[in-house]
Amino acid sequence: MRKNILCANWKMNKTYSEAQDYFKELLSMDLPGSQVDIVVAVPDLFAKMALDESEGSDIKIGVQNAYPKESGSFTGETSVSALADLGIEYVIVGHSERREIFNESDAFINEKVLAVFEQGMTPILCVGESLEQKEKGETKKVVNEQIEKGLTGVQAEDISQLVVGYEPVWAIGTGKTASDEEAQQAAAAIREKIAELYSQELADEVRIQYGGSANPENIGSFLAQTNVDGGLIGGAGLEAASFAQMIKVAG
Ligand code: G3P
Repeated sequence: MRKNILCANWKMNKTYSEAQDYFKELLSMDLPGSQVDIVVAVPDLFAKMALDESEGSDIKIGVQNAYPKESGSFTGETSVSALADLGIEYVIVGHSERREIFNESDAFINEKVLAVFEQGMTPILCVGESLEQKEKGETKKVVNEQIEKGLTGVQAEDISQLVVGYEPVWAIGTGKTASDEEAQQAAAAIREKIAELYSQELADEVRIQYGGSANPENIGSFLAQTNVDGGLIGGAGLEAASFAQMIKVAG
């Protein structure tokens, strides 16, 4: 039995004080933390505060990106080692916004996955097809390729810790969602690919989230799909109350 994992991806939203208020509000709620893993992926600037605010609670802190080196001349970047040392547990890797806006290649995403594991953190590896690819019937091919390239060189002993975020690009922030069946099929294809690369046993331990216009009303039907083990939540995770509602559905 895989434990559901819900991650709020704040993207580039909130000021410092809004971020503090969010944690105070979320922590004041009664959350089923033993039944669902709860992650809030904040901008790096808020990471220390988020860790301090959530200390001793069931809320884990993640970030949305990391540079896959320990240190060096990479102006403006944050190293995986600094994040791990701070206490960050999850790093979103390969989000479609990074793939598209920042031209991140599968090879660079793979470097990040390896570096995040190396530092003892958990990557949330995002994959998903564009509308054009969906219309051409290429969803399975696209996610399989992103999985295979993203996981190159990852050791079998790390795989059970992996979290995959299946986010159809056309569903992100659009109010359109994949159908339950589409989410289930894409997640099944991802699991099959991981089984082919490693083993069925390990693939069965990997948690696969659905992301793309998920909200308190629709998250339950995604989570009811056997291959979907959580959600990667953008807009609906920006308000503590609505994220808490989703956590309760997942718990
Ligand atoms: O990473 C989460 C995200 O891309 C989905 O965003 O706003 O459609 O829930 P949203």
